[in-house]
Amino acid sequence: MESAARIIGTGSAFPERRMTNDDIAQELIRFGLKTNNQWIIERTGIIERRISNIQNEAEINSSLGARAAKIALERAGRKPEDIDQIIYATCSPDTLMPSTACWLQQKIGARSAWAMDINAACSGFIYGVVTAEQFILSGHSKTVLVVGGEVLSQWVNWQDRNICILFGDGAGAAVVEQVPARSSQRILSSHLSSDGNLSKLLYIPAGGSSLEVTPERYAQNLHKMHMSGRELFKVAVRTLTECALRTLEKLHMPAIKLDWFVPHQANLRIIEAVANRIGIPMEKVIINLDRFGNTSAATIPTALDEAIRDGRIREGQTVLTDAFGSGLTAGALLFRW
Ligand code: UT7
Repeated sequence: MESAARIIGTGSAFPERRMTNDDIAQELIRFGLKTNNQWIIERTGIIERRISNIQNEAEINSSLGARAAKIALERAGRKPEDIDQIIYATCSPDTLMPSTACWLQQKIGARSAWAMDINAACSGFIYGVVTAEQFILSGHSKTVLVVGGEVLSQWVNWQDRNICILFGDGAGAAVVEQVPARSSQRILSSHLSSDGNLSKLLYIPAGGSSLEVTPERYAQNLHKMHMSGRELFKVAVRTLTECALRTLEKLHMPAIKLDWFVPHQANLRIIEAVANRIGIPMEKVIINLDRFGNTSAATIPTALDEAIRDGRIREGQTVLTDAFGSGLTAGALLFRW
């Protein structure tokens, strides 16, 4: 049978603790640094974010992912035993070994599945759904659970005011399933890219096998995220625009025909610049970064889930998602819900 893949259910989960911009300003005072609510809102659009308490097992990455996955399965009308593949997109895994996907598998009891992580940073969810689609098209898998989950607060340098204002924790999930090729509700088109020459725009220098964390490196915060914010901003606008347009071009679809645009939630000014370049009015753009900040691989599935739940995204509508992240990775995915 000629087949296609379709997202049939979504879910999301966040830790309890809200950290406001004022809370961050207070935190920075300890290090002799300044920021304020107005600056953060004007430059990023973020008002607050959620931060995991990792002493609480329920708020570690795989637990947030498991909560999101259970909701997605319920909405899709599927049971954990129906899943034959789990893809966990994350760059803040519970452990380097085993994968966060395996921790999640045990938590939701998906006994028939095989599980793996994907690290494409903030583009991870789109990379995950496109990978799921390929396994479905090849006939290898029928029902794939894709999770984008992060607890990047553990890798935030709280003494770097460019970074600590941006990130938050959370997880989103989607069930992707095989449908007949002629189905109107399906994944329509996608485009993925990466450019390893831009790796150092956003990276964690130490803690991998290339650079051990020594007490000296720890003191220099080399085990935390390092980012060239201004440069990344420009590359993000260019790359997101390019990925979105290439994905639309594959279907000869003008942007005006889109019902919704769900971009990676990194910075409201990046989103506005990209929407403007593609030709999508802001009324059609789904935003959740004001309340959750940049949750990396979780931004798109959580924003998508919220808009589906509150009835903005309706059956039969066309949705374009678009992300960029450390790597530098990027990707866009167009589907009919
Ligand atoms: O998933 C990908 C994740 N990363 C991104 O998407 C990052 C993309 N980049 C950005 O979002 C922005 O570059 C930032 C929000 C990180 C920074 O905003 P910006 O408008 O690019 O600020 P800037 O770095 O050009 O700095 C402007 C001024 C500087 O002061 P001077 O030199 O003009 O006196 C900074 O020192 O703002 C100052 N500044 C701050 N002031 C208050 C930088 N960070 C802060 C802060 N609070 N938190």
